Amino acid sequence: MRILFIGDIVGKVGRQAITTYLPKLKQHYRPTATIVNAENAAHGKGLTEKIYKQLLREGVDFMTMGNHTYGQRQIYEFIDDAKRMVRPANFPDEAPGVGMRYMQINDTKLAVINLQGRAFMQDIDDPFKKADALIKEAQKETPYIFVDFHAETTSEKNAMGWYLDGRASAVVGTHTHIQTSDNRILPQGTGYITDVGMTGFYDGILGINRDEVIYRFISSLPQRHVVPDEGREVLSGVVIDLDKNGKTKKIERILINEDNPFEMV
Ligand SMILES: [Fe+2]
Ligand SMILES: [Fe+2]
Repeated sequence: MRILFIGDIVGKVGRQAITTYLPKLKQHYRPTATIVNAENAAHGKGLTEKIYKQLLREGVDFMTMGNHTYGQRQIYEFIDDAKRMVRPANFPDEAPGVGMRYMQINDTKLAVINLQGRAFMQDIDDPFKKADALIKEAQKETPYIFVDFHAETTSEKNAMGWYLDGRASAVVGTHTHIQTSDNRILPQGTGYITDVGMTGFYDGILGINRDEVIYRFISSLPQRHVVPDEGREVLSGVVIDLDKNGKTKKIERILINEDNPFEMV
């Protein structure tokens, strides 16, 4: 099994990068499953039904989310019907949506789990305990278990990778929007990267217009984040190959922008 995972799609430029590169990436890598983090897909915050459907039409099989899951009010209306999407599983039960779903691939299944960290983030339920419970459940169904751990600190993500080594097929980090170069296979066969990075405006700060972000640091005054509608694109992802026991054989980074054109990958 080969999983193509693309990190946080930010706004229109991020969606444009998917339109530009996803067909080429799929042709090149021929993934069995294409998963994206869509928590920033609508204007940088959340997801609308229209964009959810558009991403599926463009070749995405499954979406994970994060702290911006409920950023668009519309999500409350369609999340229960959105069978190709998971939100962080350790949100309280009162929050709509689910944190684990199975993707059917021929005669096998891929469990897709989304979890969110707590260090420098909202104080939700324990993602480690939640991971224990969900993985135990998923192991009854399939050896293929994919985890997107949406968290701020490298240490919490690193801890989750080691905690799930040998139990999850892969643990990939999202949320910081900057790709880390530590992709590796942990000793018990779990593919790991601290952060996949984001897909969006290459010349911004984490996909957002620079000016307001810089001014906020200089002035300590609140600033409205502006997500641009046009600009140069970056796409960040990983390709993960799993053996028949659900262990990672290979985890490779993808980073595409004008400085690293796709032909060079
Ligand atoms: Fe994000
Ligand atoms: Fe996030």
